[in-house]
Amino acid sequence: MAAKWLKDAVFYEIYPQSFYDTNADGIGDFNGIIEKLDYIKDLGCNALWINPCFDSPFKDAGYDVRDYKKVAPRYGTNEDLYHLFDAAHQKGIRVLLDLVPGHTSEEHEWFRMSQKAEKNEYSNRYIWTNFCFEPAVGFPYIGGESERSGTYLLNFFKCQPALNYGFLKPDKPWKLSVDHPDAIATREAMKDVMRFWLRGGCDGFRVDMAASLVKGDDEQKSGTSAIWRDVRRMLDLEFPDAAMVSEWSNPPLALRAGYDMDFYLNHPGGGYSTLMRDYYNHDAEDHSYFKKDAGGSINRFLDEYLVWYEDTKDKGYIAPLTCNHDTLRPRYNLDPSELKLAYAFLFTLPGVPFLYYGDEIGMRYLDLPTKEGGYFRTGSRTPMQWNSSRNLGFSEGNEEDLYLPVDPAQDAPTVEAQEKDPSSLLNTVKELLALRHRYEDLQADGDFSVICSEPGRPFVYRRGDLLLALNPDSAAKELSLDTGDKKVLFRIGNVSTADGKLTVEGQSFAVLG
Ligand code: NOJ
Repeated sequence: MAAKWLKDAVFYEIYPQSFYDTNADGIGDFNGIIEKLDYIKDLGCNALWINPCFDSPFKDAGYDVRDYKKVAPRYGTNEDLYHLFDAAHQKGIRVLLDLVPGHTSEEHEWFRMSQKAEKNEYSNRYIWTNFCFEPAVGFPYIGGESERSGTYLLNFFKCQPALNYGFLKPDKPWKLSVDHPDAIATREAMKDVMRFWLRGGCDGFRVDMAASLVKGDDEQKSGTSAIWRDVRRMLDLEFPDAAMVSEWSNPPLALRAGYDMDFYLNHPGGGYSTLMRDYYNHDAEDHSYFKKDAGGSINRFLDEYLVWYEDTKDKGYIAPLTCNHDTLRPRYNLDPSELKLAYAFLFTLPGVPFLYYGDEIGMRYLDLPTKEGGYFRTGSRTPMQWNSSRNLGFSEGNEEDLYLPVDPAQDAPTVEAQEKDPSSLLNTVKELLALRHRYEDLQADGDFSVICSEPGRPFVYRRGDLLLALNPDSAAKELSLDTGDKKVLFRIGNVSTADGKLTVEGQSFAVLG
């Protein structure tokens, strides 16, 4: 059973480096988030996910944590973060922090201790083979960097040694079982981190690489799942309102492991990618469903989604997202009118939607050199564009000190300009989210079923008692359908019902009820 407040939750993801800088040092900060809470609320978002904001050498933008209990000074102090929790709660906004349980930075004190030749409390906190020349066959590993004779496993980049939660089937002396006291100590240490921030006032966690804990796990991830179920028992007892969203990409498994929600991510060939990111496919042509006249079919999405939806119904939520800090922004291949329809769909799906900062104004993906381990992801992490003033309102600092450059285009979208234009993407997002809050049928638990997904027809689906119709292409599409006495409650473009026929003009969307 998912936390009750998720029923009507809409999340806003903040990459803290780039949201709003209040001390002119060129990088965003907690006070900046506090100052923009009214903007977020007005947009229709009532929950935040803040990317890792803990002390770190920032070789992977903070996903390399050096101290789980101390925030990175560049964002402020722990007290500033507590203040952010309070200020958000006063406005009815919940806050999830980013928990990175699979690895730490190589500069974390636990790892420094683990590297020592002499045995100590942290020797088994990471996964080491028994000899400096013994490879960890089948896993990425590093040797030759410590006084301890052994090689250690990595969980992601070189700077991120894997924490030790044990192996499902240990077949070497250096592999601990999942119930070895030292493997359990790692899990308890992570629970301690969670308690620390939950007591400080956060409302839960987005969990990085949630499926990566137990090594040599089976396909069902039974070893890792057992750990998360244990964590869930702790939460149910001590923090029953806390919410957990996983980066797992398998909602049935993640929800069975005790998560409230799992992200629907953009894996190449996966259903979600076919909606907006089909340029990942190998014929190099973009047949994204929301790309006008690109010949995309909604069924490539539905084939995967409906199986997951049926499997997870009443157990928790699938979390669709506009984008995140790891993906190209949707504006990369979709223009603002295409984005309106894509968001209309994402924000009227069941489950819990996530909006990445800046996607509400259609910020562009910029072609930039890598920053803090971002590589191709860097172009989606640029400063939020608030207005037409210096540094597009992100910072009063010097341009050369900015964390990343702002969009140099003459027509760079900004919040200020779009607020003044009733037909802007920003105002459409506001209307869509207001509609979602107004009708329970559109929220997390409202039923979803497909009425028509035939090529050449409008895509028509039901949410509870509401009927929704969508046509991303340029020519009008019709469907013989008795819509009874339903009226158009909301529309983008033009949709009409007459004589048992539903007509959805090109690039149009409507909610009927
Ligand atoms: C997934 C995060 O979203 C990504 O940004 C990070 O680089 C990896 N996990 C490693 O923590």
